[in-house]
Amino acid sequence: MSEQSQSNLKLENNFQSKFHSNIQSKILSVASFLPSNVVTNFDLEKIMDTTNEWILQRTGISERRWVTGDESTSDLAYSASIKAIENAHIDKKDIDMILLATLSPDHEFPGTACFLQGKLKLSGIPAIDIRQQCSGFIYALSMADLYIKSGRYKNILIVGAEIHSQGLDKSTDGRDVSVLFGDGAGAVILTANEVKNKDTDSHILSTHIHADGQFAKELWLPAPGSAMGREGRITNVHLLEKLQYPRMNGKAVFTHAVRRMIESLDECCNCNNVKLQDIDLFLFHQANLRIVESISQRLELPSSKVFNTVQKFANTTAATIPIGMDYAIQENKLQRGMLVALSTFGSGFTWGSALIRY
Ligand code: ACO
Repeated sequence: MSEQSQSNLKLENNFQSKFHSNIQSKILSVASFLPSNVVTNFDLEKIMDTTNEWILQRTGISERRWVTGDESTSDLAYSASIKAIENAHIDKKDIDMILLATLSPDHEFPGTACFLQGKLKLSGIPAIDIRQQCSGFIYALSMADLYIKSGRYKNILIVGAEIHSQGLDKSTDGRDVSVLFGDGAGAVILTANEVKNKDTDSHILSTHIHADGQFAKELWLPAPGSAMGREGRITNVHLLEKLQYPRMNGKAVFTHAVRRMIESLDECCNCNNVKLQDIDLFLFHQANLRIVESISQRLELPSSKVFNTVQKFANTTAATIPIGMDYAIQENKLQRGMLVALSTFGSGFTWGSALIRY
């Protein structure tokens, strides 16, 4: 029997024996990687018609990281993954699956998870791209959680990684979008953990994911794409119309983001019979500080319980939540045993939440 078939048989046996047991998913480690190049609002004033005051007042963002060299999204993902593997104190060969969430893939195909897997030298295990934009990390977490609870896999590497800076219109035409985004990556290792006491032992209590495709074009990147007509996925006409850059209805995004993140937090609490007051820390997708403030005001969340990174790193879409977790750990705001709520919203529209006993 080949090594691969033996490994599949081992996984099948694992699946049969663990299904319906007390196996839950635990976040074993967290890590992030941010490019070192800091781009401030004052730097943007030099390349487009904008001001530090406008950006700060509308978004809360002061600076972001933008790569300067030829790095790709899988390079950032690799740096975050290596740190997460080190922090987990496991052999990378113990990883059973890779889930990578991104909207800025290395190439149209194959998926960026495959490029990451190649760099990690982890041939044979499944490597899957999640294309759910800002909600990608929570979608990946939800899938990984179910794979682990079913007994199918033991250790799953989940990564959110983005390089936006190479795909933004940095002229004044694109200023409403380009000031919002930064580059970065975050990674976690999710592992199977036998939970004896659900009130204290580390595990994911629940995840909730949603989408509403009728709003797909409120925040999107038209080209290249198979729907761009018979002349080709991207033509000179498309380039002249700047269809290779993201387009956003900012007001619609703002309104739906506030509504859906509140709804999905509510869903999380109801599902677990938990009150908002019981939650120790809230990590919202970091699109815009004003969105997080609006949610916090409506739900009367104390600012000490809401952790933000958008001021320094801007919106890194699929990476904001794992980056936030990593910095919250570094700043001692996220500690083992705490009850943590994650909530996100993004293009699609997509949204979701998770409740975690960290
Ligand atoms: N600098 C200076 N002026 C700008 C800029 C800029 N970067 N961008 C737009 N403006 C101008 C506009 O041209 C407009 O000028 P006009 O009045 O002369 O026409 C003016 O500012 C106001 O524009 P609005 O779009 O009405 O500004 P608004 O107050 O709605 O703020 C913003 C725009 C910040 C994008 C807001 O709609 C928002 O926060 N939306 C949420 C979008 C978001 O967070 N997206 C992140 C990605 S999605 C996600 O992660 C969930």
